[in-house]
Amino acid sequence: MKPIYYLLASALLLTSCAQSPSVTSPDGNISVYISRDGTSLTYNVCVGGEQLILPSRLGLDADGLIPDEDAKMTVSHSSFDETWQQPWGENKEIRNHYNEVAVTLSDDNLEYTVRVRAFDDGLAFRYEWNRASGDSVVVRDELTEFAFARPATTWAIPASFETYELEYRNLPLDSVSDANTPLTFQVDSAALFGSIHEASLYDYPEMTLRRTEGRTLKADLAPMPDGVKAYLPAQFATPWRTIQLGQTACDLINSGMILNLNEPSKIADTSWIKPQKYVGIWWGMHLGTMTWTMGPRHGATTENAIRYIDFAADNNLQGVLFEGWNEGWENWGGNQHFDYAKAYADFDIDSIAAYARHKNIELWAHNETGGNIPEYEAALDSTFAYYQSLGIHTVKTGYAGGFAGGQYHHSQYGVRHYQKVVETAAKYQLMVDAHEPIKETGIRRTWPNMMTREGARGMEWNAWSAGNTPEYLCTLPFVRLLSGPMDYTPGIFDINYERAKADSGRLEWNGPNDYCKINTTVARQIANWVIIYSPLQMAADLIENYEGHDAFRFFRDFNADCDWSKALQGEIGKYIAVVRRAGENFYFGAGTDSEARTLTVTLDFLKDGITYTARIYADDPADPTKVVISEKQVTASDTITVEMAPSGGQAITFMPVIANT
Ligand code: NOJ
Ligand code: CA
Repeated sequence: MKPIYYLLASALLLTSCAQSPSVTSPDGNISVYISRDGTSLTYNVCVGGEQLILPSRLGLDADGLIPDEDAKMTVSHSSFDETWQQPWGENKEIRNHYNEVAVTLSDDNLEYTVRVRAFDDGLAFRYEWNRASGDSVVVRDELTEFAFARPATTWAIPASFETYELEYRNLPLDSVSDANTPLTFQVDSAALFGSIHEASLYDYPEMTLRRTEGRTLKADLAPMPDGVKAYLPAQFATPWRTIQLGQTACDLINSGMILNLNEPSKIADTSWIKPQKYVGIWWGMHLGTMTWTMGPRHGATTENAIRYIDFAADNNLQGVLFEGWNEGWENWGGNQHFDYAKAYADFDIDSIAAYARHKNIELWAHNETGGNIPEYEAALDSTFAYYQSLGIHTVKTGYAGGFAGGQYHHSQYGVRHYQKVVETAAKYQLMVDAHEPIKETGIRRTWPNMMTREGARGMEWNAWSAGNTPEYLCTLPFVRLLSGPMDYTPGIFDINYERAKADSGRLEWNGPNDYCKINTTVARQIANWVIIYSPLQMAADLIENYEGHDAFRFFRDFNADCDWSKALQGEIGKYIAVVRRAGENFYFGAGTDSEARTLTVTLDFLKDGITYTARIYADDPADPTKVVISEKQVTASDTITVEMAPSGGQAITFMPVIANT
């Protein structure tokens, strides 16, 4: 029997859900209530009539943002419903449907607003202000709390203001000490999943979470060296604090809420922004068989560049990345001085760029900064103008190194820098792929040249550590990937590193690499091209490992420019199955954790009345290096059985059968 205080508490919670709501989602399921207590505001949230978030603090600790006790409170309601298109994305068409309430406290000096939006797939709120004096605002702390009413299980990486390349922790909410967002949760014993994150992060530090007591998490912003969190103007709107909600974990993946909380595109002509598949001179350096620096094992040579361009052209790929093409790599980890416009002597950039143009292949520029922000910012305009003159449309950036002056990567200083790169790149028609980035918060809607980013442990960790676990790979889609695309750099076919191990001149980089592992099957590597969405999708292995390999056909047939996507099935940390459509073709990818698993998948996502050839790339249960390729004809009324080996997966292309006339 439940104790009496439990019953009383439940009755109280239900009563508070029955108050007249401040704002309710269009389907009536999610309600957010705002209450005033003197000069401060709190919020609470009910979902399906039950309390999810107890009254929790709102606001900032900042001089000049505290309204008078007798400040006037005004409440305004509005609704919005629009379906909009984006030039690229998991889904090109997105519905933005919400109800909004704005609660404003105003006195002679200040207008301070909490704006709340309730969608069918979650809720969001932000702070806005206007100081009559025109004085700026110094933020010492953000007071936002998320006080959960019920126990929950969480998945998140620890909070760090420097890196997102951390392992996931799967903890009960009341054992979380700190976390970065997205923090995904399931309310215990309930069909209620959610994820706390932020949207539209500009000119403000990132938000991490710290548990203050019980089940209460509080915002913890990345500080600057003087301890201040943000220096802000007299008029400002903060990023949105978001809670995505769904009945299943896959509902979170299928939500467009984060993008909906960003402004429409500021780039008028987006014709130069194009999703693409690419290969690169990259994996060899991580395996230790090539170097970034010039020398006998230099990767980015003219000869290799031509080979990679030819390979891309022959295999229906659009881009080629070269790392270690520019001078300065000797200084990496030292004084971090790079020259972004000077190629090494054995990389003839003019003839390579001309050859790439001739072959209709996009050349990528790579800018490792080592964290030397002042030098990079000073060089940005001239560097990007130079790339544009070479016909380059993509730049991969990197920040492997601490920022000067004790600045954190994820502070207001860092956020401003990453944004400056995106906006400068847009001026020179460059797409950006950022490594060691700031977290994705949906700014790709406003800046559609901000294509993809790392921001989690990528493939590289398999080259020089014990590697990413299959459980990690099954968690990623439900946590990091909720925020947006990731340049994981999937698709290693030589999963035992046979070629690198056979290479007599193999270098030892970062210690002996022999214990390094990739916990996978090759079929799972193929499936990751679908599962881990990126509009710039890499086949990360050495091209020698793809040449003549039957299974590389999947990537040749794959289209990174998808129109529609759906997460079909999944459990956080256990398995995931996703399908995407590009034009008339569908691409399916599924992956499992360390356990073998069989999924039953109905093909009702296919178009009615069309017969498709399904080309299936499946695990060989006896040998993770083998891919069993088969073909059959299917329609939307069929069901398939997807069998996956431990750490394995399956990928399928569905292409309409063209009738012979
Ligand atoms: C780390 C990046 O994630 C990786 O892709 C890159 O190769 C190295 N830094 C060097 O820039
Ligand atoms: Ca990295």
